[in-house]
Amino acid sequence: MGVIIKEVGKALPRRVVHNTELEKLIDTNNEWIMERTGIEERRVAEEEKALDLAAAAAREALGDTDYDTIDLLIVATVTPDMLVPSMGALLKKELKLANAVAFDINTACSGFLYGLWMAEALMKNGAAEGSHTNHIGRALVVGVERLSRIVDWTDRGTSILFGDGAGAALLEMDDKKDGILSSFMKNYDDEGDVLTCGMEYLKNPFAKDEDVKQCLRMHGTKVFKFAVNAVGEVMDEALKRAGLTPDDIDHYIPHQANMRIITSAAQRFKQPLEKFQVSINGTGNVSAASVPMAMHDCYRSGKIKEGDLVMLVGFGGGLSAGALIYRA
Ligand code: ACO
Repeated sequence: MGVIIKEVGKALPRRVVHNTELEKLIDTNNEWIMERTGIEERRVAEEEKALDLAAAAAREALGDTDYDTIDLLIVATVTPDMLVPSMGALLKKELKLANAVAFDINTACSGFLYGLWMAEALMKNGAAEGSHTNHIGRALVVGVERLSRIVDWTDRGTSILFGDGAGAALLEMDDKKDGILSSFMKNYDDEGDVLTCGMEYLKNPFAKDEDVKQCLRMHGTKVFKFAVNAVGEVMDEALKRAGLTPDDIDHYIPHQANMRIITSAAQRFKQPLEKFQVSINGTGNVSAASVPMAMHDCYRSGKIKEGDLVMLVGFGGGLSAGALIYRA
């Protein structure tokens, strides 16, 4: 018995912003962005709310599934439409998921990985003999972001990197398949505040907090170094826990932050780059939505066949990282 990835979904806002459009806003150019990141364009929500994107991705993943059979909904995001209700609660209401327990998690770009990890654990816990907790037969894990709302569009170090979108995966308990084989999540302390986003609160006549600007701040080179090391560590550990070698994996689906980080992972594990899903060119970094969107691309292009071994890898703010291996 295992937890399988049954279906995936993806949604993007309509508005495309090409690198050449950014050239008009900041001191940058298409060649530099392409060479340093692999990003050519990204989507930016003009009218779509995070809820619209999350609902569209979730509906695709759900297909003709009976919505009443969804017992759990986890939404990973750093850009919810509101703090209360959570995106999970909003999405549950929007989709009319009568029986889903719904909540949000925030581990930045690793969010979708942490969501899958948590969903699998809750599903297996609920199914265990003598379990005293909710039975979860089906779960929906969604990653959604409107990063364009927290990006400083005057900062060329960050504004070129991020985009908006949503991805979703439908998980199911299966009596015959093993599905998720191993996972490993790890948090690292962000000692140098290399990746942060403040929260802007109302003026408070009593509190002595400093005013914090609500926008992404990143020390690109330090995050880059962290990412390369963390990716190696969590991939190694997930492989070890599954008793597999890098050669056994048919498809690697990494977080889409920078093409050079993906290339370095391929080199470190001595794997052909063709095994790595690359979707960054048309979307940029969409934080918690990056991995499920890239999964969607990998499935819809027909690359993943039943029985293939797939490894998902995430890393991001916190700092956080995670890897998960499953059999398709
Ligand atoms: N256009 C043109 N030139 C630029 C730009 C730009 N947009 N941005 C920086 N430069 C310049 C710099 O000023 C610098 O010039 P100098 O040498 O004259 O000082 C030069 O280019 C090199 O800058 P670096 O910052 O050293 O460039 P680097 O090769 O590190 O690339 C980048 C920057 C793309 C941000 C890279 O560091 C990166 O991708 N880091 C990882 C980011 C990442 O993965 N973030 C997501 C984490 S996940 C999450 O949770 C959000």
